[in-house]
Amino acid sequence: MADKHVTFPIVNASAERLPFADESFDIVFCDHGAMSFADPEKTVPEAARVLRQGGLLVFNMVSPLLFACWDELKDEIAYSLHANYFELRRFDYQEGFVEYQLPYGAWIDVLRRNRMIVEDLIELQPPDGATTTYPELVPLEWARRWPAENIWKARKP
Ligand SMILES: C[S@@+](CC[C@H](N)C(=O)[O-])C[C@H]1O[C@@H](n2cnc3c(N)ncnc32)[C@H](O)[C@@H]1O
Repeated sequence: MADKHVTFPIVNASAERLPFADESFDIVFCDHGAMSFADPEKTVPEAARVLRQGGLLVFNMVSPLLFACWDELKDEIAYSLHANYFELRRFDYQEGFVEYQLPYGAWIDVLRRNRMIVEDLIELQPPDGATTTYPELVPLEWARRWPAENIWKARKP
């Protein structure tokens, strides 16, 4: 904020129960945050609730395909399908945190049930010359062949 000479409130709260009034934001944005680590059945309704009419929900997270290719025994990404795609939902890690992921159709379903219109699903592919700071998640060559991350865009009509 100091760098850009702007000030705005920063609120620390759970995205499953936002401490904001209905229809108070034009944009809800999330980058590898609550949409990955909180329950979409709670976060999507909350995002839809706090958006004004015409407001935009944008979130970036790892892809369902990445989860489907995760080799749990080796605890690393594989170049083939491993997980049961239809069972993607909630993952409880030994370290004590949880992560959520849904099949693509279930994402569209939860967005539509909350009256959000899906405008785009951007499947990220590293351009030529790109490097990665996250090789332990997926090698660069994996991300060139399959989308490791998605950006969802949905709008409140
Ligand atoms: C991997 S960090 C990414 C943060 C940021 N986008 C960045 O690139 O630095 C994950 C973030 O999700 C937030 N988070 C996890 N569960 C949340 C929840 N239920 N409600 C709100 N935020 C949550 C964490 O507090 C953390 O800041």
